Amino acid sequence: MGRKLPRASAGTRQMSSLQYVCGYLDFRWRKAFRKRMAMVGMVNLKGRNVKLRPASSEDIDARLSLGNHPEIIEMFGISLRDVKPLTRDGASRWLQRLIGNPNAWIIEVSNRLVGEIRLDNLDFRERRASMAVGIFDPQLLGQGIGSEAIRLVKHAFEHLRLHRIGIRVLSHNKRAIRAHEKCGFVVEGRECETAFVNDMWHDDGQPGLADTNLAAGSAVFLVL
Ligand SMILES: CC(C)(COP(=O)(O)OP(=O)(O)OC[C@H]1O[C@@H](n2cnc3c(N)ncnc32)[C@H](O)[C@@H]1OP(=O)(O)O)[C@@H](O)C(=O)NCCC(=O)NCCS
Repeated sequence: MGRKLPRASAGTRQMSSLQYVCGYLDFRWRKAFRKRMAMVGMVNLKGRNVKLRPASSEDIDARLSLGNHPEIIEMFGISLRDVKPLTRDGASRWLQRLIGNPNAWIIEVSNRLVGEIRLDNLDFRERRASMAVGIFDPQLLGQGIGSEAIRLVKHAFEHLRLHRIGIRVLSHNKRAIRAHEKCGFVVEGRECETAFVNDMWHDDGQPGLADTNLAAGSAVFLVL
């Protein structure tokens, strides 16, 4: 669904040539931006220990074997009593969501699927997006995998010409907040009592990173 070019109108409020040219350039710029957005998730990104790659139909079994661990799912704002065992159908829906997002990657360590990382809600006018990341194996938490994946996805600033990436995270999820802070994110705000988890209201923290502060927490990476 392409956007329509602005058209000079024959009506009373005619569009000036300058407005027309600006509209046309805006249209071309947005088109190029969307093209970049559609492509960026298709690249593999490789760090020292972590590889990010697009999801494929072969990932269902690996995802299924990792299951739904309550301590991990709870950090996404789900009450413990609502955490259900992962079914093949659930794994298949997860995969479809990932494949349907051009800016989503599987996190792989030693050729093994261990998690996912995504850019969501891309806004090409404001040049911003939100980020979500999760490691599915509780044995692998706190080993630097998440922060390495986050650093790799920071390439989106350059390749998508993003201005800012924001995340929303339970404010008591100190590990996630620290992992983002290590990559240069700064907790910019806090929304009070936004998540009702385990029969209690919890606050959300809002770490963000703008391209103006990009140098902080950066890392060298290879694009394969
Ligand atoms: C969030 C997540 C992706 C981070 O990845 P990770 O590989 O576990 O994180 P890292 O090892 O890269 O960094 C974690 C940092 O937090 C620190 N940390 C761990 N537990 C902590 C705690 N309770 N309080 C404070 N800091 C803590 C670690 O020491 C480490 O910091 P350091 O390197 O300065 O010592 C991962 O933990 C995860 O998937 N968690 C479950 C889902 C989730 O919370 N997703 C985020 C929702 S937005």
